[in-house]
Amino acid sequence: MTTEESDGTLPSTIAAICRRHSGREGPLLAILHDVQDTFGHIPDEAVRHVAYTLNLTRAEVHGVVRFYTDFHAEPARAHRLKVCRAEACQAVGGRAVWAAAQALSAVPDGRVEIEPVYCLGNCPCGPSAQWDGRTLGRMTPERVHELVAAANGGMPS
Ligand code: FES
Repeated sequence: MTTEESDGTLPSTIAAICRRHSGREGPLLAILHDVQDTFGHIPDEAVRHVAYTLNLTRAEVHGVVRFYTDFHAEPARAHRLKVCRAEACQAVGGRAVWAAAQALSAVPDGRVEIEPVYCLGNCPCGPSAQWDGRTLGRMTPERVHELVAAANGGMPS
């Protein structure tokens, strides 16, 4: 996303994003996606500016940020591992993959954030996961361990 229309401060960046979506019907989600792409999360100050610009209350914007799991109110860790927890993947070992991811991501100062996701459209190749947006099939606890360990710069097995 470019912010050439802004002077680089948060308020002017938000204003530029809002301008880009002006005229759209229901622009809030598109604006929040751009805010998150720009800042890596949706800071409180951005919520305030977006609410003001769209003539919404801060509670309304906060509600949308909290409702959609793709939005993050806090800065995210460097990597994001989404693990499918829906039925087809559960049937082929998804629970063990999720358990491994949970255990590994609990490392203090770890660089990987994990999230459950409910079907990635990759059901025949489950258990499925997504690493920084790339869908991976046939996941195993061992593969999860390798990915997380590499991201964390090596960690005890
Ligand atoms: S159930 Fe896991 S990808 Fe569809």
